[in-house]
Amino acid sequence: MKKILVIGAGGQIGTELVLELRKRHGVNQVIAADVKEECTDALKDGPYVKMDVLDKEHVQEFIKKEQPEDVYLLAALLSATAEKHPEFAWKLNMEGLFTILDLAKEGHIKKIFWPSSIAVFGPTTPRVQTPQYTIMEPTTVYGISKLAGERWCEYYFNKFGVDVRSIRYPGLISYTSLPGGGTTDYAVDIFYHAKKSGEYTSFLTNDSALPMMYMEDAIRATIELMDAPKEQVKIRSSYNLAGISFTPEDLALAIKEIIPIFKIKYEPDFRQDIANSWPDSIDDSAAKQDWGWKEKYDLKAMVQTMLKNVDPSKLI
Ligand SMILES: NC(=O)c1ccc[n+]([C@@H]2O[C@H](COP(=O)([O-])OP(=O)(O)OC[C@H]3O[C@@H](n4cnc5c(N)ncnc54)[C@H](O)[C@@H]3O)[C@@H](O)[C@H]2O)c1
Repeated sequence: MKKILVIGAGGQIGTELVLELRKRHGVNQVIAADVKEECTDALKDGPYVKMDVLDKEHVQEFIKKEQPEDVYLLAALLSATAEKHPEFAWKLNMEGLFTILDLAKEGHIKKIFWPSSIAVFGPTTPRVQTPQYTIMEPTTVYGISKLAGERWCEYYFNKFGVDVRSIRYPGLISYTSLPGGGTTDYAVDIFYHAKKSGEYTSFLTNDSALPMMYMEDAIRATIELMDAPKEQVKIRSSYNLAGISFTPEDLALAIKEIIPIFKIKYEPDFRQDIANSWPDSIDDSAAKQDWGWKEKYDLKAMVQTMLKNVDPSKLI
């Protein structure tokens, strides 16, 4: 039975990824690691290690001792937070990746998953059905770090045969844990407020279309990519993944169908500039062709599931 290590396990994606991996591989096979002192409640039934991915010696020592076959490296500063701390964002988003790529190069890890983002695209990228291969001139610190990371992943694959796999996640929507400082966070917050007070103030304008995806689909895509035979993984920078594209207004209307009194206001802030530089929708035909990707959730199914499951008492 192989061991799996998830670094950044306490976050929005990590929590759900660890739960799913533990279902498939056994609770004790999947080690959750995060810089947080305490393990997230949802993951307390399995192994947890407090790990700062920037503490290279500790990461190296731990991985050499535990020999996990697969490492999922999720620790990063997200788009909105990265704009506030550019130097630290660059450091965190790049140094951890090099540590893990080098450990794989030396033969201590068999497979790496490292997430990229739609933030690798920029204002000069075609916005509608953004192709896999296109102009990439990101204007955010986060996007620059993700694009550089993609280039390094491909380089380590070509040069050293490192089996690294990646997805350009769209904005992810989930209810298990709160989002961590991204530009698409509104599409999660809105459900908590809709249930709590019946109103929400969006930090993006009504017509800001962005690619989004329900978390269950994103986790399935991640695991399917990691399980795909090596020869089917033809792109070693990062795969486009489409999901559902919608605007804050589309989302509000879908919520109104279930909560008719729901009201939305729009007060765009600095995150509007970030959203303006990202695609409206994504072409993910390469993922479909290479490893058989197919999404399950549409807007209606996602809204129904979110409204049923969000717990508004989690809002501080
Ligand atoms: N959530 C999204 O919509 C989205 C979209 C595109 C890409 N991504 C990428 O997916 C990954 C995970 O995103 P998320 O939304 O779960 O983020 P998150 O902010 O919710 O979680 C990140 C986790 O990493 C941990 N962490 C931070 N610094 C660390 C360090 N030095 N060492 C170890 N752990 C550390 C945090 O404590 C947190 O638990 C990131 O690389 C992010 O860029 C996320």
